[in-house]
This record gives sequence, structure tokens and C-alpha cells, in this order.
Amino acid sequence: MAEKKYDLSEILLTQEQIAARVAELGAQITRDYAGKDVLLIGILKGSVPFMVDIMRKIDLDVEIDFMSVSSYGGSTKSSGVVRILKDLDSDIRDKNVIIIEDIMDSGLTLAYLKGYLLKREPASLRICTLLDKPSRRTADIKADYIGFEVEDKFIVGYGLDIDQKYRNLPYISWVKE
Ligand code: IMP
Ligand code: MG
Repeated sequence: MAEKKYDLSEILLTQEQIAARVAELGAQITRDYAGKDVLLIGILKGSVPFMVDIMRKIDLDVEIDFMSVSSYGGSTKSSGVVRILKDLDSDIRDKNVIIIEDIMDSGLTLAYLKGYLLKREPASLRICTLLDKPSRRTADIKADYIGFEVEDKFIVGYGLDIDQKYRNLPYISWVKE
């Protein structure tokens, strides 16, 4: 058995709080895109739980796709240089695209991705992030749909990891220094 290296703090967001907010976001997207189809693009791997939950709260014709990106650098800091590890399977031209992300921190990853995807001329492109850490923003970018604003703490659970662990927690917690 691997030794546990991190000390988790109390629960920040419970399963119930997350589920309720995800349902609200899904309903809002359903209203905003009434009569249209949407393509949800999940950013692997952190967005997986959020993606599977929110897609079932959107009452529209929904397609999904995934991208995998990595920012060069350490495990708890974004370097701003983004590498595409897995690109989309399909063309997004003329589609209503919503990027589904776990957390917006510096914003550098999403700023890069937004520019990258806009070149493919989608009909529209919005960002839906479960968590937002506005205090850490360095890129000039805002999400269109935000689940919760969080303080400058290192968050884990419900998709979010530290060293690839804790993604499977059904709630959201944070790592003590
Ligand atoms: P950004 O480019 O600084 O906005 O960071 C983007 C990525 O860094 C997120 O998609 C996460 O994968 C990761 N990240 C940022 N903050 C946290 C955190 O508090 N916990 C876990 N991952 C994080
Ligand atoms: Mg991520």
C-alpha cells in the first residue's frame, strides 16, 4: 500500500451541495440554448465527474467530446504553456460549444484552449467551470457558467487531484499545507 502523502482538510462542498449546483447549471444551460444543440467538451481528466453529472441535467440534444491537455511544470502550479495530448474527435465548425472544466485557476489553460478552439469557427463558445479561483487569475478570461467560487486553496475531490489522487472522492476538500 502506498503511503498517504497529503493531509486533507474538512469537506468544503458536500455531494449534496455539488449535485444541487450542477442541476442549477444544467437548467440554466438548457434555458440559454433552448431550441439548439450543444457540444460539451470535457477537459480530461479533472472534468469527468462534472461532465457525467451535468450532461444529464441538460435537456437538449447534447454531444460530448474530450480533450486532454497538460501544462508544463509542477503539480500545483500552472506554467501557462499548454500542450495538447488528445485533440477532439470531431469538427466543431458551426457548433455551439461549451467547454466543461473542473477549475479555473490562473485561467491560462482555458485562455489558451479558447483561442485554439475559436480558430475552428464554432457557432459559439462558452466556458462552464465547476470551480473558480478568481484570486489567482492572471489571464484575461472569465467563465460563462461557474459552479462555486473558492478561496486560494489546493482543492481535491470530484475529479480534482493532487499527484493523480483523490479524483474519486464524491465531495470536495482541500489539502493542508
Ligand atoms: P489554470 O491554467 O491555472 O487555470 O489551471 C488549470 C488546471 O490546473 C485545472 O484544470 C486543474 O487541472 C489544475 N488546478 C488548478 N487549481 C487546482 C486545484 O486547486 N486543485 C487541483 N487542480 C488544480
Ligand atoms: Mg484540469
